[in-house]
Amino acid sequence: MTDESKDTKDEKKPEPGTGHLKHSFLVGELVYLRSVEKDDAEYGASWRQGMIPRSVSATASWIEDDLKEEDDLHLVIVRKSDDRPVGSLKRSTWRHNAWIAGTIDPLFGEQGQHWLAEAYIMMLQWSVDEHHRIIAHIEEVPDSQQIVLEKLQAMGARVSSTFREAHRTATGFEDWHMVTYLNKDWVGTLGDPYAVEKPRSGTGEPRPVIAPVTVEGDLPPNAVRVGPRVYLRPLQKADAVDLVEWARRETEPFWSSGRSVMTQTSLERWFEKLGKKEPQTWVRFAVCLRENDEFIGAVGVDGIDYKHRRAESESEFHHVGYRSKGYGTEAKHLLFDYAFNTLGLHSLQSWVMYTNTRSAAALRKQGYRDVGIEPWLVQGKGGYDNFGTYELLADEWRAMPRASVEDAGDLAG
Ligand SMILES: CC(C)(COP(=O)(O)OP(=O)(O)OC[C@H]1O[C@@H](n2cnc3c(N)ncnc32)[C@H](O)[C@@H]1OP(=O)(O)O)[C@@H](O)C(=O)NCCC(=O)NCCS
Repeated sequence: MTDESKDTKDEKKPEPGTGHLKHSFLVGELVYLRSVEKDDAEYGASWRQGMIPRSVSATASWIEDDLKEEDDLHLVIVRKSDDRPVGSLKRSTWRHNAWIAGTIDPLFGEQGQHWLAEAYIMMLQWSVDEHHRIIAHIEEVPDSQQIVLEKLQAMGARVSSTFREAHRTATGFEDWHMVTYLNKDWVGTLGDPYAVEKPRSGTGEPRPVIAPVTVEGDLPPNAVRVGPRVYLRPLQKADAVDLVEWARRETEPFWSSGRSVMTQTSLERWFEKLGKKEPQTWVRFAVCLRENDEFIGAVGVDGIDYKHRRAESESEFHHVGYRSKGYGTEAKHLLFDYAFNTLGLHSLQSWVMYTNTRSAAALRKQGYRDVGIEPWLVQGKGGYDNFGTYELLADEWRAMPRASVEDAGDLAG
């Protein structure tokens, strides 16, 4: 490059602190939001999301090659005073929901919280008030970000769920808040979802843990945990046949957004895909009867977060005749033993549709606590349905009384 052409290029560089003047929206008092640009690679350590920091060249090629393939919207949080990238927001969508994940460089200390709060607020107002979306969620606000929480609440967003100790810190665990922003016009039309009472069934009482048993003689095939009546084993290809058959015979549309049609090949592909992800973030087991090895349901931990040592638990008994008989609860305790004692998780979270009172009752029976609601997550009758949120901490589960093997059958049912 000649000196002359270099000078011309330098001259073209905008004066630091003037970048926001080219924007008419997503500009706040301290920061502004804009799409990712090539030169942002230089500041990747400040704004790129994820636990592993990347080199400038790796971020540059991610911006160049991979970012355009992403469905999610990535915006850089830029400091207004000098146009330096200091963090980022990622917005993903699922059905009518927008989910926003934010990061701010922790090396900037407390001032970073003011920048992040301003960025979240602009994103919520833009996504909901301007785009007329009905709801947006901030995925994760750790308890130590009190400034962010206060500012979000002051603009009309609300902490919808608080999961205790679900966020790992340098010295232990802190609470994780989910923050939700509702479209005010839709609240006017549909009413306030927080005012809808959570329907309940069952006793609401936790029961003693049905712990794994020691097996005399041979083990059931490929068993990972064995209880008094059921055992867990990894899912296998042949299980897809049963799932397809029982999906056709489903009689209860209330526990999901209606019934599903399943196909054998897509299920087989899905089982295979779960095991291939590195690191694996969804571990799902078949639940089988000890008396005849019949495959009656599945339980698993999904969204495993190895940093925060948490996951979402899930269960699904495809065989209708084996629901409401305590098999789900017995299988879940075997799963907890695996999740807490083998994977080393610290907490489990669960989301259940309001209409699925049995699943919520089963969670309470297993020791989970109610920790909030996630409003309007899915379409419902003439509107949208809320989900209840639940959590179980490893230490609390360990402290629960254990059922004797003789009592386990009675307690389960
Ligand atoms: C959710 C599921 C795994 C629970 O396992 P389960 O073996 O049926 O649960 P349990 O029998 O141990 O406990 C059921 C609880 O609900 C109550 N219950 C039973 N049948 C019910 C019904 N039809 N409606 C409402 N509550 C019911 C029971 O009284 C019990 O609570 P209690 O003992 O405190 O009184 C199982 O029912 C299932 O697979 N359902 C379909 C799929 C599903 O809903 N998955 C979860 C999605 S979030």
